[in-house]
Amino acid sequence: MKIAVVGAGYVGLVTAACLAELGNDVVCVDRDHGRVAMLQAGGVPIFEPGLDDVLQRNRHAARLHFTTSMAHAVSHGEVVFIAVGTPPQEDGSADLQHVLGVAEQIGRHMDAFKVVVNKSTVPVGTGARVEQVLRSALNARGLHTLDFAVVSNPEFLKEGAALDDFMRPDRIVIGLPPGELGDTARRLMARLYAPFNRHHERSLWMDVASAELTKYAANAMLATRISFMNEMALLADALGADIDAVRRGIGSDSRIGHSFLYAGTGYGGSCFPKDTRALIHTASTHGVGMQIVEATEAVNRRQKQVLVERVCAHFGSDLRGLRLAVWGLAFKPNTDDMRDAPSRVVIPELLRRGAEIVAHDPVAQSEAQRALCADLGCAVGQVPRLRFADTALDALQGADALLVLTEWKSFHHPDFAAMQRRMRGRVVFDGRNLYDPELMDAQGFVYQGIGRRGELKAAQRPAHTVVSATERAPSLLAT
Ligand SMILES: NC(=O)c1ccc[n+]([C@@H]2O[C@H](COP(=O)([O-])OP(=O)(O)OC[C@H]3O[C@@H](n4cnc5c(N)ncnc54)[C@H](O)[C@@H]3O)[C@@H](O)[C@H]2O)c1
Repeated sequence: MKIAVVGAGYVGLVTAACLAELGNDVVCVDRDHGRVAMLQAGGVPIFEPGLDDVLQRNRHAARLHFTTSMAHAVSHGEVVFIAVGTPPQEDGSADLQHVLGVAEQIGRHMDAFKVVVNKSTVPVGTGARVEQVLRSALNARGLHTLDFAVVSNPEFLKEGAALDDFMRPDRIVIGLPPGELGDTARRLMARLYAPFNRHHERSLWMDVASAELTKYAANAMLATRISFMNEMALLADALGADIDAVRRGIGSDSRIGHSFLYAGTGYGGSCFPKDTRALIHTASTHGVGMQIVEATEAVNRRQKQVLVERVCAHFGSDLRGLRLAVWGLAFKPNTDDMRDAPSRVVIPELLRRGAEIVAHDPVAQSEAQRALCADLGCAVGQVPRLRFADTALDALQGADALLVLTEWKSFHHPDFAAMQRRMRGRVVFDGRNLYDPELMDAQGFVYQGIGRRGELKAAQRPAHTVVSATERAPSLLAT
């Protein structure tokens, strides 16, 4: 089939690559000229395991092309996917300017029937708005009778496992407009997704509004599970219980299941934070309260402060003279996505309190450097007391403590003896519960996870970190 995908970000690129892999003839369009030039030259602008190979293979097979020309993409695709960003606005609502801008451009360029499929995460009612914008653009060209169908097909992929999620979906949610146009769209979508439905039917057909709401409901549910466990973890710490045992204890109940039950430093990324906020906003504009989702959000905001609080509880709130190593900057492993990553809360807060930070991430380092420097209003590489190390062990050189913020596989079994040879102190704040508290104890570390049996006691401040009262307060980031 001839497919157009608008947007070459995480969702658009994965959609384009996977649909080409299934034998379709795909044109992927993005307005970012640099991004498109990189893709045309064989580069990949994002880190996603396996994506490079699939892009390469399909580019060489001439089934996948990249362009900045909407005219070309729209005339090519019988099905046109919209996969552009829907970032949050000040009030929490989703910014639809990109989605509606693309709808307008499709209307400006289409000259035959199209199925326009919205893959971006959009509030209920957006399908109808896309339809209106497209219709006005066609009317402006005098094409009053040219038909199209606007379909909602939200994406559920997880960054870091995106190709697998796309190629082996649990379900495919497809919202159709009513009437004959909906029937035509259903036939085309059924043909496109037939390869995923060979074993059993995975497509769930519904109306557009229900499909749009399904996406938000799914993300809100997953975010709620995480916040629930984070709250339980704080209670476990207070009670001397182990949240990991509790996690296994409840996860093995088939009504609950094991997924998304890990306590940590809070959820981040491009979806959960913005989608929960957008859902709350949508509900409030319809006079409906979202108390559970609001609590989920509030617990998450608080959770991002927990490691900082624990560093302060241990070392005191003035962190001048302390060197802290940070392992992991991306919001989760196997991605370089820094959107709403907990590291963007934790690191600025530690710097503000005077700590020196040496950070390492196996993949997201340059993205992280850009994001953190922008957050802190500094030129790249110019944030005082913030450095990046090429390896995890290098980050530990002279460190008083280690903070683990992302559960990269390579952090799971570190060489503890080598760590101790480099570190000045022995303290590990494990924001992802990677290590066994008893093992860490036996290795001679002063260890604290999240919900892993109690908090660290306040320590004697290491002598080298004691700063005289006459020293100036940290100038950076004074608030
Ligand atoms: N990232 C995820 O894991 C994920 C998962 C499921 C759903 N989603 C949703 O999918 C949508 C896209 O997310 P993403 O992470 O891929 O975004 P992204 O920011 O990585 O990519 C969006 C791309 O669209 C391009 N773009 C914007 N306006 C355009 C226009 N007018 N014409 C052509 N290109 C344009 C941008 O240049 C960018 O390359 C969002 O609504 C998001 O909520 C994301």
